[in-house]
Amino acid sequence: MRAVEIRGWGLDNLIVSERPDPKPGFGQVLLRMRAASLNFRDLLMVQGKYNPKQKLPLIPCSDGVGEVVEIGEGVTRVRVGDRVCPIFAQQWLAGEPTRDKARSTLGGPLDGTLAELMAVDQEGLVKVPDHLTDEEAASLPCAAVTAWNALMAAGVKAGDTVLVQGTGGVSLFALQFAKALGARVIATSSSDQKLARVREMGAAEGINYRETPEWGTRAKELTGGVGVDLVVEVGGAGTLDQSLRAVRFGGAISLIGNLAGIDAQVRLTLIFMQHVRMLGIFVGHRESFEAMNRAISVHGLRPVVDRVFQLEESRAAFELMGAGGHFGKICVRT
Ligand SMILES: NC(=O)c1ccc[n+]([C@@H]2O[C@H](COP(=O)([O-])OP(=O)(O)OC[C@H]3O[C@@H](n4cnc5c(N)ncnc54)[C@H](OP(=O)(O)O)[C@@H]3O)[C@@H](O)[C@H]2O)c1
Repeated sequence: MRAVEIRGWGLDNLIVSERPDPKPGFGQVLLRMRAASLNFRDLLMVQGKYNPKQKLPLIPCSDGVGEVVEIGEGVTRVRVGDRVCPIFAQQWLAGEPTRDKARSTLGGPLDGTLAELMAVDQEGLVKVPDHLTDEEAASLPCAAVTAWNALMAAGVKAGDTVLVQGTGGVSLFALQFAKALGARVIATSSSDQKLARVREMGAAEGINYRETPEWGTRAKELTGGVGVDLVVEVGGAGTLDQSLRAVRFGGAISLIGNLAGIDAQVRLTLIFMQHVRMLGIFVGHRESFEAMNRAISVHGLRPVVDRVFQLEESRAAFELMGAGGHFGKICVRT
């Protein structure tokens, strides 16, 4: 089979290679992968910034969708012909994560989805909503599940206001889920064009965070001075202070990403004197993926796919992610 491999750190060492076809063992299925999608984490992995101790070669990317083409002995959860996504953390099926479960992630330390074939344990799979294209379905395992759990952990309900930062994969899913739950959405972006697009997707308000560095204060004004119920925090160190300006007393911040840096100086009084709940989110388990898929089916939601590349163009897909010009998900046809 053909697979993309990280042979050394940096995009120059991303190689399309030949590997022996995997065979499904006991309890495993063989997937003919149809599409993969990129997350920011995958770019960091290729650059050697996510885990410099990662053993190479590694097949990158945690997210993808495939068709079951062969089942091993003992498989009962899926059948040949089913279209399924491997879950992000292969051993985290429900409940709280443990260190071991959190280390069972695809695209590092385990080989990922940027390949023609994958042998996957039957427990590490979910069936995908029928109405989605392959690229749309491939976009779900990390970004969508993270956005879903960011909202679920905060208990978002109809009438709440949710602030989403930027127009990357996680944030657009958060916008769609928040709208489906009946919440009002305030979106930020560096681009007025992208803000126009998030308004088309249902965001009530858009703030250009480049033109308005005090976007948190502005978001609070847009809620009549009360503050938003939830901030979906993907920026991290460089955005947290403004997120704390935006959030209401007793509101929540789902801590997800570090697009704007990792080491934050925080005025702690803004957290405890406002009774703000800081919710660390690490993607989510299989059960939450299945719950999310039900919501996606009920509401007929469609992930936003920016561009689709071919397997041999994978480097260009990663370059696009690095340049940050995308709106939604970058996919690769496998
Ligand atoms: N904790 C978890 O389980 C988990 C899961 C998934 C992702 N993540 C993390 O979440 C973050 C987002 O991931 P992603 O895959 O959605 O990334 P992505 O698709 O690459 O998102 C990129 C977008 O983020 C926006 N952005 C960048 N810097 C920003 C800033 N300072 N303020 C506001 N928006 C900013 C930009 O939007 P505009 O162009 O509109 O400005 C950019 O286009 C990453 O740090 C990723 O590692 C964590």
